[in-house]
Amino acid sequence: MPPMQVPSPDDMLDRLRSLPAAAPLLARLGERSGVYLVGGAVRDLLMGGAPIDLDLVVEGDDTVAAVPALLGGHVRAHDRFGTTTVTANGFSYDVARARRETYAYPGALPDVRPAPLAEDLLRRDFTVNALAVGLAGPGAGELRAAPGALEDLDAGVLRVLHDRSFVDDPTRLLRLVRYAARLGFTPEPRTAELARDAVSGHALRTVSGARVGTELRLLACERDPVAAFSALREQQLDREIEPDFGLHDAGLARAALGPAPADVRRDRLLLALASRRLRPARLRALLDSLAFEASDRDAIVATASGADALADALRAARAPSEIADAARREPAEAVALAGALGAAAQARDWLERLRHVHLAIDGNDLIQAGVPEGPAIGAGLRAALAATLDGRAETRDQQLDEALRAAA
Ligand code: CTP
Repeated sequence: MPPMQVPSPDDMLDRLRSLPAAAPLLARLGERSGVYLVGGAVRDLLMGGAPIDLDLVVEGDDTVAAVPALLGGHVRAHDRFGTTTVTANGFSYDVARARRETYAYPGALPDVRPAPLAEDLLRRDFTVNALAVGLAGPGAGELRAAPGALEDLDAGVLRVLHDRSFVDDPTRLLRLVRYAARLGFTPEPRTAELARDAVSGHALRTVSGARVGTELRLLACERDPVAAFSALREQQLDREIEPDFGLHDAGLARAALGPAPADVRRDRLLLALASRRLRPARLRALLDSLAFEASDRDAIVATASGADALADALRAARAPSEIADAARREPAEAVALAGALGAAAQARDWLERLRHVHLAIDGNDLIQAGVPEGPAIGAGLRAALAATLDGRAETRDQQLDEALRAAA
């Protein structure tokens, strides 16, 4: 591959103008200098992508205070590092003062102090993310990069900016895996060695569960989460999270994810696949410690611990109504996994067809037909649905007949 041509400032500005989230920014900033697009968005722009999430870094306290108003938006959140989320033009931007960071102890949240952009780039995770482009004023469109950043981007190399990077911020171990899987980039030898040392020194244990959980959820949301979790396994990072946690069977994962319809949550499914060796109570506690939302936690636990029995029940089903009886109370992710565990036809039937079948009648129709309120209504509707699923009641009248017979 020929070496990457560094785009001219005009070319960079053209690329920026083509981004829906950046075009209004450029217009609103006018000639205001000292505002930069930074990090992954610049990396993706240079790789020909069209980033959506834009992180801005600002030099100068006056400018950082003025940016929300300049963008014509309002401040939505503010964290302890002075990062502000501004919503404007229908987009949201993270805006931070250019800063240096120090870590009081391994895994601590950093202490931050204002610094010039060049230093801000050096505090970052990997060279390929230590990139910035001026948005307005005399330096508009000019690329600023940490030493070696453009060469590493060109070569597809992940390189930390200093030897303590993983010790200071061990979540970068998970980010390393995520970028390796997503971009197909390779850690250069020294970075790989530092990562191995940090893993074997149990660096991840110095970080709060919530921060590890955030990175784990991002990994599970990758376009190829199987590659991401396989990379996690290769780095032996999964077992640092929990000894029995990890994707042991990538083939099973691909078999479960491949045919799953769009509304099956692939991130939940993948996390459940990686959790199959944990007992339900242990898994629940782990997901709580990783600050998972209750709805995600419950779906992951139900999928991880229930899919084998569900696969057995689905395989034993002799009619569509029996498939429905087995699958109805289970998350769609559990059915998708049960499909990969030997009940492919039944799982597909449920996910693609049966779960979308609804009755043309409801309880009011039964009451109007003289059924007293109470359990008979539920029994009647269940029987009508079973008959419909099994092809014995196709019209509304047939459904009502089935329901009334069962209710009686
Ligand atoms: N960063 C860092 N160390 C971290 C997290 C983030 O140095 N533990 C820096 C990186 O320079 C990163 C930037 O902060 O590019 C913004 O972080 P984030 O929004 O998480 O990543 P993106 O730049 O959006 O990259 P991606 O789209 O790949 O997640």
